Amino acid sequence: MQPVNDRPEWKELEQHAQVMKQQHLFDLFQADADRSERFSLDLGDMLVDFSRQLISGDTFGKLMALARAMDVEGARDQMMVGEKINLTEDRAVLHTALRGGPDEVIEVGGEDIMPDVRASLERMRSFTNSVRTGEWLGFRGDAITDVVNIGIGGSDLGPKMVYDALQDTADNRLKVHFVSNVDGAQITRVLRELDPATTLFVVASKTFGTKETMINARTAKAWVMAAAGNKEAVARHFVATTAAPDKAADFGIAEANVFESWDWVGGRFSLWSAIGLPIALAFGFDRFDELLAGARNMDQHFRARPLAENAPVILALLGIWNTNFLGAKSQALLPYDQALHLFPAYMQQAEMESNGKSVSRNGRAVQYDTCPIIWGATGINGQHAFYQLLHQGSQIIPCDFIVSAKPQVACEGHHEYLLANYFAQVHALAMGNTEEQIRADLQTKGFAEDRIEALLPHKIHDGNRPSTCLLLKELNAYSLGKLIALYEHKIFVQGVIWQICSFDQWGVELGKVLADDIMPRLTEPKTASGNKSELDRFMRFLAAPESAH
Ligand code: F6P
Repeated sequence: MQPVNDRPEWKELEQHAQVMKQQHLFDLFQADADRSERFSLDLGDMLVDFSRQLISGDTFGKLMALARAMDVEGARDQMMVGEKINLTEDRAVLHTALRGGPDEVIEVGGEDIMPDVRASLERMRSFTNSVRTGEWLGFRGDAITDVVNIGIGGSDLGPKMVYDALQDTADNRLKVHFVSNVDGAQITRVLRELDPATTLFVVASKTFGTKETMINARTAKAWVMAAAGNKEAVARHFVATTAAPDKAADFGIAEANVFESWDWVGGRFSLWSAIGLPIALAFGFDRFDELLAGARNMDQHFRARPLAENAPVILALLGIWNTNFLGAKSQALLPYDQALHLFPAYMQQAEMESNGKSVSRNGRAVQYDTCPIIWGATGINGQHAFYQLLHQGSQIIPCDFIVSAKPQVACEGHHEYLLANYFAQVHALAMGNTEEQIRADLQTKGFAEDRIEALLPHKIHDGNRPSTCLLLKELNAYSLGKLIALYEHKIFVQGVIWQICSFDQWGVELGKVLADDIMPRLTEPKTASGNKSELDRFMRFLAAPESAH
């Protein structure tokens, strides 16, 4: 496998970047009245505007040539038909099948998986209905009022982000809570407010082996059993979403209460599976179906559109341009929509767990940067926190703005102000301001000349800081599904071009193994060896009486 950075298309981009680094977005806009039009993609309910990226038509063409050379389309087709592209775990990668169309046939190991997918969705629908209508009763004969999802990583972040995003559209039949941290403070705080007789727990773990989830689930089980006075109550109050039904049974969850997932669903892409059960419980199954439909729409777009009109491909290539050719080290995600305030945290796992790798598919160390640091927060809050660095910091941080044209919740005067700020920020980042403008402004305000000279360097904004805007008509289940799938496919395309394995996560395994070794030494302090290891020092520190210094 020829390393991507040895390819002529990569070398051409390296040379071309030297030219583009001399350009300024202000001049590029001045020189081309159609720039916004030319560098944007209208997807009907979503507008992808990348005109504020530091690119020219030439850059765009060269990036497309790179994608073609890396056979992005071939790799995409391999993924979507179920080839085992998760090489190190020898698995297919088929989260797209979970939102497949009614006539779709996808084979894994010679068997069509779609009947199982549809059956699982049907089970979710009928279970959701029975809980939401009050037919499903707790141990005291009461209807369920609260659902607690116990899971971590993909088994938490996805459902939690979507629940939060759509909360204002809920009918409030059920309230959903999320417990992920093994720090007992979290589950204690959640349970304090709840009645065990009306609470349903969803133990969400693909492997049903993640220790933090199991510890939290055991605590919840003990809480329910203590209130009910018998263990039969577990069947009324616990369901599992997992690819390991046997382990769920060992935990004591009735077979009928286990919702299946599969090994070809990656943890961080699992919200489309039964892991999305809390979403269906909170909003009704039809709403969950709309989420799937939005994602399916993006899958169809990704599958059908030519590279140059393909939104995930374009986002992926712009990220590569910024990271590998313009030297960006991080990428900010800035939603101007309160409903998306957990979206950056969700994307952190999706992107960094997928592409935070430095070994290529053939096992050799890569000689170029891969995934940048993904971070962000809602825009208007960020403006009063970290935007200073975005505007005038010593590093350039490309930004993705996500903006909803219509507010989810109408509140007079608010949305206009939010939008005005978004427009102001993207303009300021791209265009900056000039010495002349600042001087004129300060003169108008009556500042003395020596004061103006002193202030000038601090008030200059060089601009030329790249951003992309994803403008949604409105945020709802459908557009959210589409947005998530857009980023999922972007991540995939980047992994293909960087030649890395995007679907494993060995980097999180080592710590898990070490923690298992350490755990007995913390619970059995006598086993501390008295040597100088960090753990022994900690044990001595804990055992020593507190002394005033
Ligand atoms: O953090 C590693 C990871 O495997 C994630 O990929 C996954 O989302 C999370 O742990 C939880 O795993 P599980 O659903 O098996 O409990």
